[in-house]
Amino acid sequence: MELVQDTSRPPLEYVKGVPLIKYFAEALGPLQNLQPRSDDLLISTYPKSGTTWVSEVLDMIYQGGDLKKCHRATIMDRVPFLEFKSPGCPTGMEVLKDIPAPRLLKTHLPLALLPQALLDQKVKVVYVARNAKDVAVSAYHFYRMLKVHPDPGTWDSFLDKFMAGEVSYGFWHKHVQEWWELSCTHPVLYLFYEDMLENPKREIRKIVEFVGRPLPEETLDSIVRHTSFRKMKKNPMTNYSNLPETFLDYSTSSFMRKGTVGDWKNTFTVAQNERFDADYSEKMAGCSLHFRYEL
Ligand code: A3P
Repeated sequence: MELVQDTSRPPLEYVKGVPLIKYFAEALGPLQNLQPRSDDLLISTYPKSGTTWVSEVLDMIYQGGDLKKCHRATIMDRVPFLEFKSPGCPTGMEVLKDIPAPRLLKTHLPLALLPQALLDQKVKVVYVARNAKDVAVSAYHFYRMLKVHPDPGTWDSFLDKFMAGEVSYGFWHKHVQEWWELSCTHPVLYLFYEDMLENPKREIRKIVEFVGRPLPEETLDSIVRHTSFRKMKKNPMTNYSNLPETFLDYSTSSFMRKGTVGDWKNTFTVAQNERFDADYSEKMAGCSLHFRYEL
């Protein structure tokens, strides 16, 4: 009789002090063979900060706003997720093999784990940061779905783990700060999820200018429309509805969940908020980054 191995919810694995989904940790070896090109563009975020959204925006910019071309494949097959590995799915590096230049690449890795070649080659980076409270809530719902991540348990215990950096990719605080500091010496466009939601066209203009791909006004308007939360939630190429059930459990939530600023207020208790704020001011002391918690 064939033994069916249970591949779900293995414990996180620590690499250079950073906890990672076990399979993603295994992908780091092959990832060192990455050969960046000078025209690559790296999308970097702490998870749940608007990665998929900015990926779709960038692919639309690269395709000159041509919707049909953006429908050519799912977002994971258009924007390879460098450290991705999961049983039964092609790895990020395998997907990358078939991607023609100029390539869009995605990562959530902190700088300590990023292939050094990307920094040496001065590959341009679009970084998106989102306020930590909405990230924590979004991550809680997502890790309930994500079967390769340990079970988040109750919201209260998950919030403690999030503050202690005991979730995949470790501390949110460290991630947003180190990529912010990198922007002093490396070509990084540092964006905020809250700004994108407040005025998507203004932020898309910044991206267009950063990647040096000017587009007519009507095309910008069309990109704004087609990358709205409502449109992307319905779009099978962006809503992750076709990933295997071994990877995402669709019975608990959906990937395109709410897409708002301030959902944390529906989840945090007063006590949790006070605990979070105290921890936050310690970890973010001296940092010039400013986040918005409502619009
Ligand atoms: P919520 O769980 O708060 O709804 P990532 O792609 O980095 O995993 O981020 C996922 C978060 O971004 C989810 O947040 C998701 O709903 C939100 N999101 C995805 N596309 C969006 C869009 N077009 N507009 C606003 N939010 C979006």
